Amino acid sequence: MWSEVERFAQAARKCDIVGLFDEPNRAGGFSTRFDGMLLDYSKTALTAPARSALIGLAEASGVAARRAAMFQGAPINETEGRPVLHSALRNLSGGAVMVEGADIMPEITATRTRMAEFATHIRQGSVTDVVNIGIGGSHLGPEMAVRALRPYHDGPRCHFVSNVDGADIADTLTGLNPATTLVIVASKTFTTIETMTNATTARDWMAAAGVEPGPHFAAVSSATEKTADWGIDPARVFGFGDYVGGRYSVWGPIGLSLMIAIGPERFHEFLAGAEAMDHHFQDAAPLENMPMMLALIGLWHHQGMGYGTRAVLPYDQRLARLPAYLQQLEMESNGKRVSMSGALLERPSGPVVWGEPGTNGQHAFYQLIHQGTAVIPCEFLVAATGHEPELAHHHRLLVANCLAQSKALLRGRSLDEARALMRDAGYTGAELERQAAHRVFPGNRPSTTLIYDRLTPRRLGQIIALYEHRVFVEGVILGLNSFDQWGVELGKVLAVDVDAMLTGDTTLTRDGSTAALVAFARAAGV
Ligand code: F6P
Repeated sequence: MWSEVERFAQAARKCDIVGLFDEPNRAGGFSTRFDGMLLDYSKTALTAPARSALIGLAEASGVAARRAAMFQGAPINETEGRPVLHSALRNLSGGAVMVEGADIMPEITATRTRMAEFATHIRQGSVTDVVNIGIGGSHLGPEMAVRALRPYHDGPRCHFVSNVDGADIADTLTGLNPATTLVIVASKTFTTIETMTNATTARDWMAAAGVEPGPHFAAVSSATEKTADWGIDPARVFGFGDYVGGRYSVWGPIGLSLMIAIGPERFHEFLAGAEAMDHHFQDAAPLENMPMMLALIGLWHHQGMGYGTRAVLPYDQRLARLPAYLQQLEMESNGKRVSMSGALLERPSGPVVWGEPGTNGQHAFYQLIHQGTAVIPCEFLVAATGHEPELAHHHRLLVANCLAQSKALLRGRSLDEARALMRDAGYTGAELERQAAHRVFPGNRPSTTLIYDRLTPRRLGQIIALYEHRVFVEGVILGLNSFDQWGVELGKVLAVDVDAMLTGDTTLTRDGSTAALVAFARAAGV
């Protein structure tokens, strides 16, 4: 099946995407809608036969069976022997989800109720500031979502500390009042060195100010026994099962800071959006299935056409952290070199994902996207309306820029058009030719656009779940395990050795480069 996709991809290298719009209803036929969202992928080189080949590939790869296995709680995270059930955290209907013969929903629902009580208590009390200390999946989700949902934020201010760099916590705590601050220590394992170091620093900060830390700390973790050892009152600890991966965990206790920010009702809407996407993903036929199509387009561009990266370009300042969130979601999930069986992958794993909000990126790296030699598929996201009715003219300009960029990538500017521009500007002869060459845009550069009405809690939930399922489908077709992350382990282990070297341990084997860097740092007073 891959061979068929590759054959189409080979032919598509010569495809003129603009020419595809000669087909009647190209835009309608190469887009999919769900609950007020439109995913337009007509500005890609995908043709109907190529798309059928991709759908055939998904079918042959067993996506449907794997999807059913995931939602049913089978241990599809095979290297860790765990089910993958972040969907259970947003299973608002409460229907049974069985893991090893036991229904996990009563515990999930009870924890969500406790979270809501705690969040309400905090929102109604004297806490002015919440500091979420976590990293990776225990940080990026709530940080991204709190920022995205700023118009709905009516709880205490929220701050996020992740980096072990003391600058992060120092800058965050400066100006905060320990007596009115709540610290949430968010760590699935409750062992992560960055988080535990920052948590200890926050506890010391409180104690130094004469504030008893106990009532000012809460924890979210799967390792609830460790939170007790650390001294956090079990009544303020919110647990979740190891069937929820860190980068998929914003829907449960890791989202506590978000729930405190926007309130339990809006958090419920956020979950409801994701739940709706779960149903859509399970029920819709491939062609109408938004996560499925987004995944197939991703595979088409990276593994098929050989484009090395994809840019995620939200035209929404409040989605400024979405690219970082998706970097972890996509690259930690599908950045693997072996298949589920342990054999080397035959094709590239997931691509590099990167991006910045528009319009800022336009004045920075879009130059390369338009005129550089690499083709970078762009994924635009934009809401038709903003939350500032008095600034509707800003929003219209934002939308205009977003749509103009995909149009510019598509059509480009020909040499003849560039020559005409230079002629109008008064150039002639060789200088006209030279100037014109610099103003050519090759065009024919693929992009997709996800457009929706407005970034509400429900919509954000849908969008995140859309990307989660996209990652899942890509992972299944690539035959890898999207739910482990062994690639982050080695650096963690070696950091312990290097830390010992920085404090003078000379017994450890060193490569010359690291030895020289350690020597420099020591000489400079590390
Ligand atoms: O860096 C790897 C990782 O395990 C991520 O997958 C995870 O989101 C992050 O560290 C934080 O882990 P924890 O929540 O256990 O502190």
